[in-house]
Amino acid sequence: MKALQSGTKSRHIPVTMSDTSTPTPVIEIRDLHKSYGPLEVLKGVSLTAPRGHVVSLIGSSGSGKSTLLRCCNLLENSQQGEIMFMGEPVRWKGQGLARMPADRAQVTRIRTQLSMVFQQFNLWAHMTILQNVMESPITVLGQNPAEVEARARKLLAKVGIADKADAWPAQLSGGQQQRAAIARALCMEPKALLFDEPTSALDPELQQEVVKVIKDLAAEHRTMILVTHDMRLAADVSDHVVFLHQGRVEEEGPPDQVFGAPRTERLRQFLSATMAV
Ligand SMILES: Nc1ncnc2c1ncn2[C@@H]1O[C@H](COP(=O)(O)OP(=O)(O)OP(=O)(O)O)[C@@H](O)[C@H]1O
Ligand SMILES: [Mg+2]
Repeated sequence: MKALQSGTKSRHIPVTMSDTSTPTPVIEIRDLHKSYGPLEVLKGVSLTAPRGHVVSLIGSSGSGKSTLLRCCNLLENSQQGEIMFMGEPVRWKGQGLARMPADRAQVTRIRTQLSMVFQQFNLWAHMTILQNVMESPITVLGQNPAEVEARARKLLAKVGIADKADAWPAQLSGGQQQRAAIARALCMEPKALLFDEPTSALDPELQQEVVKVIKDLAAEHRTMILVTHDMRLAADVSDHVVFLHQGRVEEEGPPDQVFGAPRTERLRQFLSATMAV
């Protein structure tokens, strides 16, 4: 297997001389356990997404990557372990399979500050691209429509589809739809972006359009958790790579180490199988 060289330079947010404290991570997960009925999918996973960092999650199909991402923004309940958002622990009620967040207002607050981008774009088919991007800031955050529109148009330009503002989702290519979905996620001005295989549904040339946008966001020091099967992308944009295997963190580290000098046999096998495709 040819080792991937990480294209990552020093991406860490500069810390001024007067600010020597470690900033609070945007997301911190400790010892998370998650089951679907009798099937334990996450078996004590810990994960930290520091501010301005990109954390990639890699692993075989079924290893629990999407489940972990969905637990992060509280789309899924978990049975044990802690989730902290900007240092604030999620409050729980109930135990085991009955455990759920205790405070709906807290869940809404956290969820509106974490934007998710899905493999299948999930644009609203009955709205134009501009309306898709503007919808949540207006209806969920109650922001001023004129201000949201100005921001939405800037974001569409940023992802290279300003000319598609009035088009319907079905009139766009997959790569354009995914870029619209990223603009929609950004328009909420989230504290972190969660990507679940954002390029997997796309043909290779369309993948590159989306990869470029993700690289631009990484260069801007956006906080991101990125689930991907694209090892080149993970190597290029990540500060930290987490390899999940059967619901556990089998190995993690900086991309140069994870891709260049994997320590566990399972990661070596995963990488050689993935790169052989
Ligand atoms: N809603 C659900 N109900 C029951 N089991 C589920 C549910 N969602 C996921 N699972 C199971 O949990 C395990 C982990 O699934 P998950 O989708 O998190 O994997 P993944 O790592 O994202 O895989 P992929 O790379 O294929 O997307 C799998 O065994 C899956 O069948
Ligand atoms: Mg998945």
